[in-house]
Amino acid sequence: MKLNAFERAAMNNPLRAAHQHHREARWLRRLAGGGLSGQQVLEVGCGRGIGAEVILDRLGARNVIAFDLDESMVDSARKRLRGRQVQLSVGDVCDIAQPAAGVDTVVDFGIIHHVPDWQQAVAEIARVLRPGGLLLFEEVPRQMLDTWAFRTLTAHPRENRFDAEEFAAELARHDLHGAGGFERHLGGMVFVGAARKT
Ligand SMILES: C[S@@+](CC[C@H](N)C(=O)[O-])C[C@H]1O[C@@H](n2cnc3c(N)ncnc32)[C@H](O)[C@@H]1O
Repeated sequence: MKLNAFERAAMNNPLRAAHQHHREARWLRRLAGGGLSGQQVLEVGCGRGIGAEVILDRLGARNVIAFDLDESMVDSARKRLRGRQVQLSVGDVCDIAQPAAGVDTVVDFGIIHHVPDWQQAVAEIARVLRPGGLLLFEEVPRQMLDTWAFRTLTAHPRENRFDAEEFAAELARHDLHGAGGFERHLGGMVFVGAARKT
């Protein structure tokens, strides 16, 4: 699902960009064991492109392939990332336009909770990761989506949501292991973690 006007404003502002560049980058660098030096990274649901900047500039990736369902987000990302090692397109995480087992790392900056069939998104991410490849994720649990603020101000699928344990269990069903050690941040609004494809 695309963002509504409220969440678009909450996501696309300098404060959130600074948070991603500094705090979230630190969480992901730690979870990745020091960074993603020299890797090819796929970012799912890239929004306006701040995540791709973080992946290149803070985590040290070689290049990023990134897509988003929302064409207007991809247009903003194109402007932001002109001249960078980033390949952008419009796309759906439930049907990723990449061959199987070709990607070193997938990064999910908070998009899977927007996807009605989130289990299909996990299956697709597992399909494109190479054996030994890494998934880094930051996600919003059902408990948050069920709060008054989220239900009133944002637009998310209402049914078939997940908590951190259910998310980790679904990853494990697709041979993505190690996600049990997730961290909770921002007062439980998000959980972050890493899982490796066996
Ligand atoms: C909460 S925003 C996060 C955007 C960006 N990752 C960030 O951290 O700023 C969720 C993003 O997921 C995208 N999205 C939602 N469903 C998607 C899908 N099925 N496939 C790809 N992107 C999707 C939305 O268009 C939106 O840009």
